[in-house]
Amino acid sequence: MQGLDSGLTPWVTIDHAALRFNLDRVRRATPDSAIWAVIKADAYGHGMVSVAATLCDADGFAVARLDEALRLRGDGITKPILLLEGVYSTDELRLASRARLEIVLHHSSQLAILSEADFVAPLTVWLKLDTGMHRLGFDADEFAAVLQQLQQINGVDQIGLMTHLANADDRKDPATQQQLSQFDQWVAGGEWPLSCANSAGILGFPASHHDWVRPGIMLYGASPFTDSTGLQQGLKPVMTLRSSLISTKQLQKGDRIGYGGTYACPEAMPIGVVGIGYGDGYPRHAKTGTPVLINGQLMPLIGRVSMDMITVDLRQLPNAKVGDDVILWGEGLPVELIAESADTIPYELFCGVTQRVKRVDLSLNGECG
Ligand SMILES: Cc1ncc(COP(=O)(O)O)c(C=O)c1O
Repeated sequence: MQGLDSGLTPWVTIDHAALRFNLDRVRRATPDSAIWAVIKADAYGHGMVSVAATLCDADGFAVARLDEALRLRGDGITKPILLLEGVYSTDELRLASRARLEIVLHHSSQLAILSEADFVAPLTVWLKLDTGMHRLGFDADEFAAVLQQLQQINGVDQIGLMTHLANADDRKDPATQQQLSQFDQWVAGGEWPLSCANSAGILGFPASHHDWVRPGIMLYGASPFTDSTGLQQGLKPVMTLRSSLISTKQLQKGDRIGYGGTYACPEAMPIGVVGIGYGDGYPRHAKTGTPVLINGQLMPLIGRVSMDMITVDLRQLPNAKVGDDVILWGEGLPVELIAESADTIPYELFCGVTQRVKRVDLSLNGECG
């Protein structure tokens, strides 16, 4: 499959049918919860606006920052939008309220902004509780007072309570159960809508589901757990990073490859050069041995990743030639394997694909009803 007419440059395909499939997987796992599809950071690098259009069966969208939310509204998205980091000034609050955003309240400085605001429209506020992540949110000793203050603010129409799980990617870590118990204790007896679960909560901790779930990474087909792939979790990859062989070469025993010459050929061998590098978002720290899919066969990366190129061992594919298809992750090559080999996580790989990589959206059959 050749990406561009102009040459052998890298490109990504975004499989919108797989996105829908993964949303359906969330729905089946959490039939009694509403779904905020988390599409911050340009939908984890997948293209926020087109992802939102495809995920029209979600109950709402969650983004981190105001400009992301306003862009969605500007593009005609009318569903509820949750602003995960809330607002930081009266002007931002006014914009959020005009755009009918639901905002997270995680710090007393935001409470002060809300208290002094004159509201354009009634606002839904999600009060964030710090049950153990120790990043954003109110502590146990602040919670009751903040909730009381919030209830007294005239423009605040509805209140929800939420928290975020820090360690749910490891199903054996007792911290998640502790966070969930803490949350349940704090919210006991109230009638507020509740939200805890990220992808790992959705797949691993049914007790975290509550009223609204907040899946991110699983929508894009990657596993939220450290010990499995998305495929093993019943998900389909959405992003496939592709390129081509741009050179092949026969080297001799002892020849060293690339910057630093970190790989020495153990024998006379053919190698290939693939047109992809860290300038495209392929991780520079991918180790020798990282799998690369060439013409449907897995070949090991050898030597250092450079800005525009990587080198591969072609001993098992000696007939490979310039122009042959290469997949760096996605269809047929789980992103989790590349992440592990580069000491990172699929989230970072997805978000890191750079602007110079052309994105091709594989269209869907069937629009939203
Ligand atoms: C508050 C919040 N909820 C939900 C998510 C989605 O998490 P995941 O992508 O692990 O499903 C994130 C992502 O970082 C988040 O910050």
